[in-house]
Amino acid sequence: MKYEADLIKTIKASPAMAISMKARAMTAAGTDVVDLSVGEPDFSTPPHIVDAAIAAMRRGETHYTAADGTAELKDAVIEKFRRENGLDFARNQISAGNGAKQIIFNALMATLEPGDEVVVPTPYWVSYTDMVMLLGGTFKLLPCTYEEGYKLTPEKLDAALSERTRWLLLNAPNNPSGASYTRAEMRALGDVIARYPNLLVLSDEIYEQITYGADPFCSFLSACPELRERVVIVNGVSKAYAMTGWRIGFAAGPADLISAVAKIQSQSTSNPCSISQAAAVAALTGPQDFVQEALAEYRARRDLVLDGLQSIPGLRLRAPDGAFYVFPECGALIDPGSGSERAVEDDAQLASYLLHEAHVAVVPGAAFGSQPCLRLSFATSRDNLEKAVDRIGRALARLA
Ligand SMILES: Cc1ncc(COP(=O)(O)O)c(C=O)c1O
Repeated sequence: MKYEADLIKTIKASPAMAISMKARAMTAAGTDVVDLSVGEPDFSTPPHIVDAAIAAMRRGETHYTAADGTAELKDAVIEKFRRENGLDFARNQISAGNGAKQIIFNALMATLEPGDEVVVPTPYWVSYTDMVMLLGGTFKLLPCTYEEGYKLTPEKLDAALSERTRWLLLNAPNNPSGASYTRAEMRALGDVIARYPNLLVLSDEIYEQITYGADPFCSFLSACPELRERVVIVNGVSKAYAMTGWRIGFAAGPADLISAVAKIQSQSTSNPCSISQAAAVAALTGPQDFVQEALAEYRARRDLVLDGLQSIPGLRLRAPDGAFYVFPECGALIDPGSGSERAVEDDAQLASYLLHEAHVAVVPGAAFGSQPCLRLSFATSRDNLEKAVDRIGRALARLA
């Protein structure tokens, strides 16, 4: 019996999830593993948000809502874009879904014809390319290197685009590199995009609130307002408010595209959880102290990890502008074909070595289309991070 369609065989389950599952299994078997593979805040959702969810249940908000979100949630999202990004949207330009992930999937599904090309700068968030394949599109990777700060340049973008390109997927602050663009850098990309009138831009801004750089966060659309009819901004509450399990993401974009997204949602999952929507309203409209407190803690953890890893021979590091990952380049530790017993052939083997020898779970750069690198999440306690850095240093010294 064939249980999997040919198309599904071409995609893989999330590599970060797979590594995290392995780490959990080792922990369950009694090994003390430090898991730096997961991409979610370790903080609890703030109490006022949890209280809002409980109050919504008590009020009886436990039924279907509009497929693409309640009016209250859309208004809270509109207000967020106005307050934080200086952008104005109407309700018919906003859609809420089961996480940013579903919104991205639906936006691609709403627009891609078979064979349409999607341009994806690397390193990229693991799901982009698999989503494109699942939807019958093709993707073109644009490698952005350590030397380039993992940022797309206007020249590289111009050389990659053609009349066939349907989407450019931008993500800043980036998972996994942490790279962000200044307003001027975005404008320069926007000038190129303006010359390709069939091109849509998806700006994944899910890490907006976790920004460390001297430059404040800039939404792609506030840098390039003239592209408004071709830009979809994706954001959500998962990362900013430690709400990954609640599954609320949202998008703002052209009304016709947003309405196509809602149509897909109405025939697939229907509305995101009504209770989570009420919680997301509280997150977006309530006190924002948590966001600042979490940011201060992430910053301290980032500095701790950078300090520790910088002194380990073989790792080249860039300080992330945002998000909660470091993405060291590890080419000096890779020795393909040396034949030595201890030689590591690629970053996947290096990640596996660290899991089994150092008991630290990290994700290889190959998962993000950028190798040889490792992604380490610092969304965990400082104690865990100190332990992980120490173990990584010792294990890598044994490789030398
Ligand atoms: C770059 C990026 N976009 C989107 C998402 C999805 O977020 P959500 O939990 O809202 O689906 C993630 C989650 O890891 C991410 O890293």
